[in-house]
Amino acid sequence: MKNLLSIESLSAAEICRILEFAAEMKSTRGRHATHPLRHQCWGLLFSKSSTRTRVSFEVGIRELGGDALFLSANDIQLGRGEPISDTARVLGRMVHGAVIRTFAQSDVEDFARYSGIPTINALTDDEHPCQILADLQTIRERLGSIDGKIVTFVGDGACNVPVSWMWASAKLGFELRIAAPKAYQPAPELLARLGTNRVIVTDDLATAAEGADVLYTDVWVSMGKEEETAYREAQLGGYCIDAALVKRAKPGALVLHCLPAYRGKEITEEVLEANAETIFTQAENRLHAQKAVLSLLVK
Ligand code: CP
Ligand code: NVA
Repeated sequence: MKNLLSIESLSAAEICRILEFAAEMKSTRGRHATHPLRHQCWGLLFSKSSTRTRVSFEVGIRELGGDALFLSANDIQLGRGEPISDTARVLGRMVHGAVIRTFAQSDVEDFARYSGIPTINALTDDEHPCQILADLQTIRERLGSIDGKIVTFVGDGACNVPVSWMWASAKLGFELRIAAPKAYQPAPELLARLGTNRVIVTDDLATAAEGADVLYTDVWVSMGKEEETAYREAQLGGYCIDAALVKRAKPGALVLHCLPAYRGKEITEEVLEANAETIFTQAENRLHAQKAVLSLLVK
């Protein structure tokens, strides 16, 4: 594995290897036998806000023996129009790896190509692979395996998180139901490209939740879409994980949220707090899953 640019670009074997390594990272935290990022400095290039991703990468890189340099796009020349290809060629000569949060997926791919250093997608408009790896780790811990499970995603079914989930379903073969109003369903071209019949798209939220092992949601208004807030809230209203929806899922079903959460919108306060232990473990797993990715990229 040279980069982590998307779930689309990973094989099932690579996903499983990351998840196995992530479990090891978690169980050996604070007493790792090796520090694979020793003498390395990684750049964190962020064009969007972040709490979990930024902190888990900064801490994870340090725990693996490396150093992290946080570069807000607004503070570097990238924010004033320097091309990503030039930024990549400069950073590629100075840092040992890059973690990038931005808008266009092509920027992460161009950065990887022009820099020649290991590059990690820390969220683009198209995918959020690090999130889905941590989610899969959480499901493994709580349910044993994703095999044969049903995951129901509720909300904006066309944004980065569900798209990465769709690729995970295509690679791993579990059933994924996307419950979203028509205007927020994944594009037909993407569904065709997935090459799987395991992804079911519907606007019938209640039916989609029936018998699910996992109910999952994400914000209605992704970063960069703030101007559409009022419209999105009107369109997506009702696509919410509430107590009645949880009752439709399997008894003991997991409720997951990538966070940040907007209570009273995509999830109720009651459901979030009832599932807080799982949801904050899911957030913690970002650290372990990403340490696994970092270690595999420098192998
Ligand atoms: N889930 C997630 O990526 O959170 P941040 O935006 O806080 O990094
Ligand atoms: N879909 C959300 C994910 C936040 C972690 C966004 O892009 O803002």
